[in-house]
Amino acid sequence: MACPQQSDELIFFVNGRKVIERQADPEELLLYYLRKKLRLSGTKYGCGIGGCGACTVMISTYDPVAKQIQHRPANSCLLPICSLHGAAVTTVEGVGSIKTRIHPIQERLAKCHGSQCGFCTPGMVMSIYALLRNHAEPSMEQIISALDGNLCRCTGYRPIIDSYRSFAREPTCCQLRETGQCCLDQEERVCSSSTGDQTHSGLCNPEFPPVDPTQEFIFPPELMRMAQEQLRTLIFHGKRTTWISPASLNELLALKAKYPKAPLVVGNTSVGLKKTHHDAYHPIILHPVRIPEMYVVSSTNDGLVIGAACCLAQLRDILMEAVPKLPEEKTKIYQALLQHLRTLAGEQIRSMASLGGHIVSRGSNWDLNPVLSVGKSVLNLASEDGERQVLLNDQFLAGCEHADIKPKEVIVSVFIPYSMKDDFISAFRQAERQKNALSIVNSGMRVLFSPGTDIIVDLSILYGGIGSTTLSARKSCEKLIGRRWNDQMLSEACRLVLEEILIPSSAPGGRVEYRRTLLVSFLFRFYLEVLHGLHQMYPFRYAELSQEKRSALGMLQNGVPQGVQIYQDVDSGQSPQDPVGRPIMHQSGIKHATGEAVYIDDIRPVDGELSLAVVTSIRAHAKIISIDASEALRVPGVVDVVTARDVPGENGKDEQAYAEDKVICVGQIICAVVAESVTQAKCGAEKVKIVYEDLEPILTIEDAIKHKSYITEERKIEKGDIEKGFESADEIIEGELHVGGQEHFYLETNSVLVIPRVEDKEMDVYVSTQHATDVQELVASALNLQSNKIMCHVKRVGGAFGGKITKPSLFAVIAAVAANKTGRPVRFVLERNTDMLTTGGRHPFFGKYKVGFMNDGRIIAADFQCYINGGCTKDESELVIEYIVLKVDNAYSIPNLRVRGHACKTNLPSNTAFRGFGFPQAGLFVETCIVAVATQTGLPHEKVREINMYKGVNLTSFKEEFDAENLWKCWEECLDKSDYYSRKAMVEEFNMKNYWKKKGIAIIPMKFSVGFNATYFHQAGALVHIYIDGSVLVTHGGIELGQGIHTKMLQIASRELKIPLSYIHFCETSTTTVPNGKYTAGSVGTEINARAVQDACQILWKRLEPIRRDNPNGKWEDWISEAHKQSISLSATGYFKGYVTNMNWDTKKGHAFPYFLFGVACSEVEIDCLTGAHKNIRTDIVMDACFSINPAIDIGQIEGAFIQGVGLYTLEEIYFSPEGEQLTLGPDTYKIPAICDIPEQIRVYLLPNSCNSIAIYSSKGMGEAGFFLGSSVFFAIRDAVAAARKERGLPLDFTLNSPLTVERIRMACDDVFTEMIPKDKPGTYKPWAINVD
Ligand SMILES: Cc1cc2nc3c(=O)[nH]c(=O)nc-3n(C[C@H](O)[C@H](O)[C@H](O)COP(=O)(O)OP(=O)(O)OC[C@H]3O[C@@H](n4cnc5c(N)ncnc54)[C@H](O)[C@@H]3O)c2cc1C
Ligand code: FES
Ligand code: FES
Repeated sequence: MACPQQSDELIFFVNGRKVIERQADPEELLLYYLRKKLRLSGTKYGCGIGGCGACTVMISTYDPVAKQIQHRPANSCLLPICSLHGAAVTTVEGVGSIKTRIHPIQERLAKCHGSQCGFCTPGMVMSIYALLRNHAEPSMEQIISALDGNLCRCTGYRPIIDSYRSFAREPTCCQLRETGQCCLDQEERVCSSSTGDQTHSGLCNPEFPPVDPTQEFIFPPELMRMAQEQLRTLIFHGKRTTWISPASLNELLALKAKYPKAPLVVGNTSVGLKKTHHDAYHPIILHPVRIPEMYVVSSTNDGLVIGAACCLAQLRDILMEAVPKLPEEKTKIYQALLQHLRTLAGEQIRSMASLGGHIVSRGSNWDLNPVLSVGKSVLNLASEDGERQVLLNDQFLAGCEHADIKPKEVIVSVFIPYSMKDDFISAFRQAERQKNALSIVNSGMRVLFSPGTDIIVDLSILYGGIGSTTLSARKSCEKLIGRRWNDQMLSEACRLVLEEILIPSSAPGGRVEYRRTLLVSFLFRFYLEVLHGLHQMYPFRYAELSQEKRSALGMLQNGVPQGVQIYQDVDSGQSPQDPVGRPIMHQSGIKHATGEAVYIDDIRPVDGELSLAVVTSIRAHAKIISIDASEALRVPGVVDVVTARDVPGENGKDEQAYAEDKVICVGQIICAVVAESVTQAKCGAEKVKIVYEDLEPILTIEDAIKHKSYITEERKIEKGDIEKGFESADEIIEGELHVGGQEHFYLETNSVLVIPRVEDKEMDVYVSTQHATDVQELVASALNLQSNKIMCHVKRVGGAFGGKITKPSLFAVIAAVAANKTGRPVRFVLERNTDMLTTGGRHPFFGKYKVGFMNDGRIIAADFQCYINGGCTKDESELVIEYIVLKVDNAYSIPNLRVRGHACKTNLPSNTAFRGFGFPQAGLFVETCIVAVATQTGLPHEKVREINMYKGVNLTSFKEEFDAENLWKCWEECLDKSDYYSRKAMVEEFNMKNYWKKKGIAIIPMKFSVGFNATYFHQAGALVHIYIDGSVLVTHGGIELGQGIHTKMLQIASRELKIPLSYIHFCETSTTTVPNGKYTAGSVGTEINARAVQDACQILWKRLEPIRRDNPNGKWEDWISEAHKQSISLSATGYFKGYVTNMNWDTKKGHAFPYFLFGVACSEVEIDCLTGAHKNIRTDIVMDACFSINPAIDIGQIEGAFIQGVGLYTLEEIYFSPEGEQLTLGPDTYKIPAICDIPEQIRVYLLPNSCNSIAIYSSKGMGEAGFFLGSSVFFAIRDAVAAARKERGLPLDFTLNSPLTVERIRMACDDVFTEMIPKDKPGTYKPWAINVD
C-alpha cells in the first residue's frame, strides 16, 4: 500500500514530562515503550494480553466539549502508543517515589503488608490511583471493583484490600475486630480465649498521612490546548502499519471507503489480542477517537443512544445514572446489561474496550451482544453513501452478509431501547471465575407477553460461548409463540433448545456436557425470573413462586472481604529496639509500591546486548530429523541460531537444555535465536523449520501404568498388619481420587541476563531463581568451565512457589551458551505463554484407596496406591512421591497402613516442585477417605476426623515420634473460633429452605512436616560485614521470593548485634559472597539461613566483647571504630550444618523431617446448584506458628498459601490436547484466584504459647502449610453438593475430583436438567482435551 511517508509528531506526556515521538510505530505498545525506551520499569509485564493487571497505568485525556479531564486505568500491554496523542500517562513512578515523595497509596500498601514478591504491586497501586483520581472517597465496592483486573499470586489479597480500606468513604477500619471495635481507634490488645495471654489483633498501621490532592500532577495545559485545536487528521507511519486518526466523521468515512479492510481500533482489546496470538498485522489502522458523534450520549422517547466509541466503563456509568431516573419497566435491558458490566473483564479493560468494538468484534463469548440483541438494539451506521440502521440481531451476530455492516461502514452509535411493560429480559453468564474471566456460556433472553397475560408474543434466546459466534435459538422461540408461560412450555422449550443449539462432543473449549446443561439451566432460571416478575406485576393473577423455586433466583453475590489476624505479642520486657517478633514491614515494601524494586528485566540494557527467543517442540515424542535455520538467519537483526551442538560442555543434567536428537514433550526447547531485538528474535524463531519423525507418546497416568513407565522405583511404607486390619474391619470401601496439576503462575516470568566478562571467560548471570548454586553449576558445566568463573546474582524473584528451582538453570544455560557463542550479553525473558508451555507445574495425582473401618468410625486399615504424573524427566518427582508416601497420613493415626507411590514418566513437560511438595495432593486424598468413611457410617465428618486424629505422643507411619498436643489445641481453638457447631446448624437450616442453593461447612486438621528428609538440604551460609562507619551488610544463601526472608534476616541481625534495623542492609544473594547455597524452599529457607546469619553475628559480637567491656557505655560506632583500630576482623561467615534428618526406605523408618506444624481451617461456602458457581463465605484458620519472628510476614504466608490452595482445589485447571499440547497458556484460559475468590471473612489466629525447640527463636516455617488448608473450601463445597444430592435422592457415596470447578459442582448436583442433556459415550469421539491425572 502506498502511503505518504511523512509522519506526524506523536505528542503525549508521561509523568508530567512531554514526549515527542517523530517516528512513532503503530505496532509499538505502551508497556514496551515505557520499559525499554523511557526506562520506566515500574510498569511490569505479566502476561501481555490484558489479563493480569501488572502493566496498569493511568491515561488522562481532556474532553474539549465537556471541558473535563478524564482519568482511566489501562493495560499498557494492549495500548498502542499512537493512541496516546494528546494524552497524559501516569505510571507508578509518577505517583510517587522514594527519591521524591511516597504517595499515600504506596505507603499504605507497603505498611499494611500488601506486597510480598512485589511484582503485582505497581499495577495494584495504579488501579487504585486511577480510582482515587476519579472518586476521592470511593465506596468499598468501587475499590474492590477497581482491582478486578489485577492478579496477585502471593498475598491472598486481604492485606491489599485492608490497605485501601482507609480510602473508602465508609468507616475506614482496616479489619473487623472480634470485639467489634475499629482497629484505627487505637492499638488493641486482646486476650486469647484459651490461654489468657496477651495477643495482638490486626496488622494494619493506623497512622497514615492524609491524601493531598495538590501533590498530583496537573493535566498539562498544552494538552488541553491541543485537544481544543486538534482539527486535522494525524498520520503515523510505522514499518508495516500506518495509523490514521481522522478529526471528523466525514474524514473517517472517506478513509473507510478508501481502506475498507482497515480496522477501527478504539480499545485495541480485540484487535490487539488477535495480533498477539496470530502475529496478524494491518497495513492501515483507523483510530476514530476524536470524532464527537461517536461519543454521543442522548435519550429519545424510546431509549438511549450511546456513541460507539464510548468505553464499557462509560456505558456502565451512563446506565447507572439513567436507571434510577427511569420507570423500572423501561430499564430491564439496562439492568441486564449492568449485571454483565459489573463482572465483565477488569476495570482496565472496561475502561479501554469500546461498545462499538465489542459489537463488531463479536467474540462468541462476549457478554453484551446477546443482551443487546434480545433487547432489539439498533446500530446507527454511516458510510460515504449515507446513513442507515441495522438491527443488532442474531443474524448480525452470526455475520450473515445481508445483516452485517459493510466494509465501508462504521457504527456511529448504538440505540438501546427502553423495555416495555410486558417485557422480561434477563442476562446470564457463567465463567470459570466470577470476575475477569470470559464466559463459558452466556445468554440473553427476552419474552414479551400479550398485555396483562402470560401468552408469549415474542421470544428471543441467544447463547454465547457455544460455537464460533453467538447463537440464537430462533426456531425454538418461534415454535413457542402463542404458548402460555407454564411448566409445559418450559419442558418443551428445553427440549427444543437442546435440539437446536448443538454442541458437538469434540467442540473446542471442552466441558461439553456442562455447557449443554447451562443452556437449559439458564432457561429454567429465566422461566422462574419471569414467573416471579409476573407475580410482582399481577399479584392476584399469578401465584408467588414456591420457596423451592425462589431459591433458584439470583446469582451469588460477594460482599466486601473482611479479615481478622490474631497473634501473640512480644514479651513486655523486650527492648523496643529489638524487632524480632514484631510485624515489621517487608524490607522492599516501599520499593515494590513505587516500582523501584528491580527485577531481572528491569536491569538496564548492557552494551551489545542481544535478545533471545526459543523454538519449542510441537510434538510430544518424536525424533528430530532436521533443523533448518537458514531462513531465520536471513531475518534482519538475527545474529545467530544456537542448538545443542553449540554447547561446549554438558547440555543440562537431568534434562537437556537444548533438545538433541529427540523431543520428549511439547514445549521442549530445541534451539534459540539471538537477535538485536526481541521482535527480530521472535521473528527468526518462527522461521526455523524442524522436521520430526513421530514416536508414540505416553501422556496420562493411566497410559504410564499400562506401559510401566516410571521415573523411580516404587516408594513404599508399611505400618502394622494390613491384612489382619482388613479382616477385623466392620466394613471395607474402595475408591479413587484424581487431582489435577497446577501452574505456578508466578507473576514474574522466568528471566535471565547473562553478561560475559572480557577476562578469563568469566560470566555474570542475573537470574530469577530459587537455586543460585544450581544455575552456577549448570552454566559452568555447559560452558566447560569451573564454577568459580560463573557469578550468579539474585536480587529478588517475582514469585516462584517451587517453580524456579530447576527450570531457571536450564534457561540460564540456554542464554549462557548463546552468549558464549556470540561473545555478547544475552537477555532471555520468557513470554507468559512460553513460560507456561515450557515449564511443568504441580504433579497431577491419581490415588486408589481401600479402607477398612469399624462402625464407630475408627479406620483400622488402609491400603493406598498413589501415582503422580512426573512428565518427561526426573526433576523433583522422586522427592514429591516420597513426600506423598510419607505425608499421606496427614493428621490421622491409621494402625495398619500400606502406602505405595509411583512417579509416572510421560511425555508432558516435566513437573516439578510446588508449594507443599505433594502434600496438598496426598492430604486431599486421605481427607477423601475420611469423608467416604463418614458417609458410609453416617457419622458427622468432624467426628470421624476426631476419632482418627493422632492423640498424645504418637508414631507416624515411618515410626517417628511426635506429640499431637498442638494439633488438638488448634482443632479445639478452630471449633471455638469458627463457632463451628452453631454455624453447621445454620447451614443445615439454610439447606432445608433452599433447593437450588446449598451451603456447606467443613473443618480440616493438618499435620504438616516442615523441611526435607535429608540433612544436606538444610545447610546454609551467611556472610556479615561491619563497615567502619558501623553499618552492616548481611548476605546469606537464601533468596527473596516474596516470603520476606531478608526482612527476617535483618530482624535477626538487629537482635543479635543489638543495633537498630536502620544500620543493616541486604544487597543481593550471590554465589560470590555465599557459596553452595541450597535451594530456598520447603518452608525452611528462612530459618536455616537465619541460623547462619545468627552464627555470623554471634561471632562478630563475641569478637567485639573486649572492646565492649572496656567501653560499656560506648556507642556501637565507637566500638566498631575501636575494633578496626585494634585490627579485629569485622567480617564473619556464619554456617548452619542443617537439621539432622534421614529416611531409610529399606527399614521404612526415619526422622524424615525436622519438625511438624499443625493447623486447622474451617470454611463455609454457598453453591449455586444450577450453574456450579460457589462463593467462599468464611474461613477461620488456626495455625501453630509458635513464636513468629514476624507475624505480618507469617500471616501473609498463611493467607497467601491458603488462597493458592483454594486455587488448586477449586479453580485452576490445566488442559492438554490429545496430542499432549498444553492448551491453557495464559490468564485468559488459566484462572488463578482473583480478588473475587477470597472468603468474605478470613480470620487467622496464631496459636499462642507454643514452642519449637528446633528452629531459631522457637519459630516455625510458615511458607507452605497454609496451602493445604485451602482444602477446607473443597470439602465445604462437597458438603454443599452432598446436601443437594441428598435432597434429590441421589447416592451420597459420590467422588468429587479436584479441582472442584463450576463444571464439576454443577454436574455433581444432578437434576432434571443434567438428565435431559445428550450424553457422549467416551471413546466414540475425540475429545478437545484429555485428563492427564
Ligand atoms: C483481558 C480481556 C478480558 C475480556 N473479558 C471479557 C469479558 O469478560 N466479557 C466480554 O464480553 N468481553 C471481554 N473481553 C472482550 C472485550 O469486550 C472486547 O475485546 C472489546 O469490547 C472490544 O472493544 P475494543 O474497543 O477494544 O475493540 P478494538 O480491538 O479496538 O476493535 C475491535 C473490532 O471492532 C471494530 N470496530 C471498533 N469500533 C467500530 C465502529 N465504531 N464501527 C465499526 N467497527 C468498529 C474494529 O474494526 C475491530 O475490528 C475481554 C477482552 C480482554 C482483552
Ligand atoms: S501484562 Fe498487561 S495485563 Fe498482564
Ligand atoms: S505480591 Fe502480588 S504477585 Fe507477588
